[in-house]
Amino acid sequence: MYRLVVMVSGNGSNLQALIDNVHRNAKVDAEIALVVCSKDGAKALERAAEAGIPTSVVALTDPSDREERDARLNEAIGAVDPDLIVMAGWMSIVTGVFLNQFPDKVINLHPSLLPAFPGMHAIQEAFDWGVRTTGVTVHIAEEAVDGGPPILQEPVPILPGDTVDTLAERIHGVEHRLLTRCVTLYSQGRISRNPATPRRMIVNDDGGS
Ligand code: GRF
Repeated sequence: MYRLVVMVSGNGSNLQALIDNVHRNAKVDAEIALVVCSKDGAKALERAAEAGIPTSVVALTDPSDREERDARLNEAIGAVDPDLIVMAGWMSIVTGVFLNQFPDKVINLHPSLLPAFPGMHAIQEAFDWGVRTTGVTVHIAEEAVDGGPPILQEPVPILPGDTVDTLAERIHGVEHRLLTRCVTLYSQGRISRNPATPRRMIVNDDGGS
């Protein structure tokens, strides 16, 4: 069984999508072995507990020492020997101490079409810019924030009459679907990196299951 770790910080609606569509889906041979949360008391922890998934809180206790926190991440995550680590709303910068421990195994979800609007306020910034189209990206996590090669991207139009809230709602719906698709493809061995074109991930997606 393909083993996932999901990293979260808050609400966990993307975690919920993975619980419902991957973890509990008999057609997908994958399980969430551990949920790691950066904040005690986050709603995401309740969602994991309700699904019977083990949790671990790994918080940044000393903001000047991310490497110490990342060593704790390595310990908690390494213990479950995951095939894939999914940052699904993990809101804290990680260092090479963590990323180098799991090369090409950490993916991140971001609510824009990268490289446009990296950072914490992507939906608001796209809305304020007045772009006609924004979207969702799932990408390999690298030390540069929101900087690794894209795996899947999907555009989301900004419609006349949209508010930030209506736009955010549509983006979250696309996130849930795209992240589910990405994790499912990984579990089927259909995503890889070509050393000859390291920025261009190979995605073997025929649109079916
Ligand atoms: C998502 O929009 C994700 O792209 C961003 O943080 C949000 C997390 O939402 N990085 P949730 O916790 O999964 O509901």
